[in-house]
Amino acid sequence: MDSRIEEKYIPALRFNFLTRYYDFLVANFLQERKWKSFFVQSFMNKSPHNILDVGCGTATLSILIKQQYPQALVTGIDGDEHILNIAARKIRENNLKIELVKGYSYKLPYPDNHFDVVSSSLMLHHLSQEDKHRTIQEVFRVLKPGGEFNIADWGKPDSRIVRLLFYIVQFLDGFKTTRDNVKGLIPEYLKENRFSHVNELKRYPTLLGSISIYQAIKS
Ligand SMILES: C[S@@+](CC[C@H](N)C(=O)[O-])C[C@H]1O[C@@H](n2cnc3c(N)ncnc32)[C@H](O)[C@@H]1O
Repeated sequence: MDSRIEEKYIPALRFNFLTRYYDFLVANFLQERKWKSFFVQSFMNKSPHNILDVGCGTATLSILIKQQYPQALVTGIDGDEHILNIAARKIRENNLKIELVKGYSYKLPYPDNHFDVVSSSLMLHHLSQEDKHRTIQEVFRVLKPGGEFNIADWGKPDSRIVRLLFYIVQFLDGFKTTRDNVKGLIPEYLKENRFSHVNELKRYPTLLGSISIYQAIKS
């Protein structure tokens, strides 16, 4: 693989040594169960065959997806081998079959028109503006016509307090990559890259900022 691409990803909590605390922090500070349950139930396609979870991390979302759609072939892809080991252990403990792949959102190792659903949670804010666009274009390419892209990520804060709290996330994850999220630009980027029916389905205030659930269709 191209070494320039090999290096380009930001670990879940920016530093590898913090990865082991990721699940604890997300469960306790981001009310993860609440919005991830809504997320998996909001897929428009209720019987998808082939689902890709991009930036799957520790696979909490991939596991919920597989439990909600047991008939589907679920694949999680992530650039970080270390976090994929944690994901593999959790999948084994849950006795599920989910394929895990090391790879990058802006260079997905799949043919065109392959997935019914692509999901991505808390991953886009790890990417530069250019890589956000490249990733959205890649997701568009691998989705089947009529397929859907479901996203959960930091969105526009609902209040000044939520905006202030989000500085903690920006400090950790970087100001450059999170700026577009705070400005609420993800829906615009989806439209610019040919997605239609772009919607913010819900916004969840958390202790560290607002998490928006977006949905977009490849018409
Ligand atoms: C904050 S974690 C989110 C993990 C999980 N989706 C969740 O909701 O808990 C972001 C993940 O995206 C991965 N990541 C960042 N940039 C990536 C890229 N360009 N391609 C694939 N994975 C990436 C990181 O390694 C990390 O595991």
